[in-house]
Amino acid sequence: MMVRSTHLSLLVTKSDLDMAQKAAELIEEQCNEALATRSLFNLAISGGKTPLSLFRLLSSPEWEKRIYWERTALYWVDERCELPDSPKSHYGIARRELLSRVPLTRFYRIKGEAHPEEAAEAYERLLRDHFCLGRGEAPRFDCIVLGLGNDGHTASIFPGQSAVEEKSRLVVDQYIHSMKSSRVTMTFPVFNNARCCIFMASGKEKHPVLSTALNLMAEPTLPAQMVRPIEGKLCWIIDEAAYKGA
Ligand code: 6PG
Repeated sequence: MMVRSTHLSLLVTKSDLDMAQKAAELIEEQCNEALATRSLFNLAISGGKTPLSLFRLLSSPEWEKRIYWERTALYWVDERCELPDSPKSHYGIARRELLSRVPLTRFYRIKGEAHPEEAAEAYERLLRDHFCLGRGEAPRFDCIVLGLGNDGHTASIFPGQSAVEEKSRLVVDQYIHSMKSSRVTMTFPVFNNARCCIFMASGKEKHPVLSTALNLMAEPTLPAQMVRPIEGKLCWIIDEAAYKGA
C-alpha cells in the first residue's frame, strides 16, 4: 500500500492582497527550507490573472530582500502557445511583473512560440537534465504555485483532455478545444511529487468550482482535485469573495 503524507491547509484571506501576502510567506518558508540543505530553490509558477498581485508583492523592495533570488531557479507550470511578447504569454507576464525587478537569473521558460509538441519535449528534456532524473523519475520541486480555472482546470490540464490521464510524461502539449488554442503543460506526476503545491484563487466567480475542488474526500472529478502531493504540502489560499461567493 502506498503511504501518503500530504499536509493539507486552507487559508481564507480578507482580500486578494492578503492572499498574495500569505502566498509570499509560504514561498519564503519553502525557500529557506530548501536552501538550508540544498544549493537551489526550485520554484514553478503559473500564468493567468491570479498571480499578478503575488508577482507585484515579491518585486517590492521588502520582498526582493526576503527571497534568495540569486539561488532560485524558476520554471513555469504551463504556457500558452504565443510569442513571448504577447500579453497572453505566461513568461511575458512574469518578465514584466517580476523578472525585470528582482535579481533572478536562473529562469527557464517554455517556448510558446515553438511547435507545441517540440516545446513540450524540449521542456521535459530540460527538467530531466536539471533535476538529473532517471527513467520514470519526476522532479521534486520545492514549491509550485497553481491557479484554478472556472471549469476546474489547473495549469493547462483541462477536464476531459488527455493530460488528465498522463502518468509518465512530465510535460505535454494539448489542444484546448474550449479555447481553440494550444498549450504546453506540466503534468500530475510533477505536481504530485512536489514538496509543496500552493493553489491561489480569488473572486466570487471562483466560488462554484471551489466548492467541488475543496471537497478533498470525494473521488476527484476536476483536474484541480487531482493535485495531491504524495509526500508534501498542499496549501489552498483563497480570498473571502471566493470563499463566500459574494
Ligand atoms: C492560464 C493558467 C491557468 C490559470 C487558471 C486561473 O493559462 O490561465 O495556466 O491554469 O491558472 O485559468 O486563471 P486566472 O488566474 O486568470 O483566474
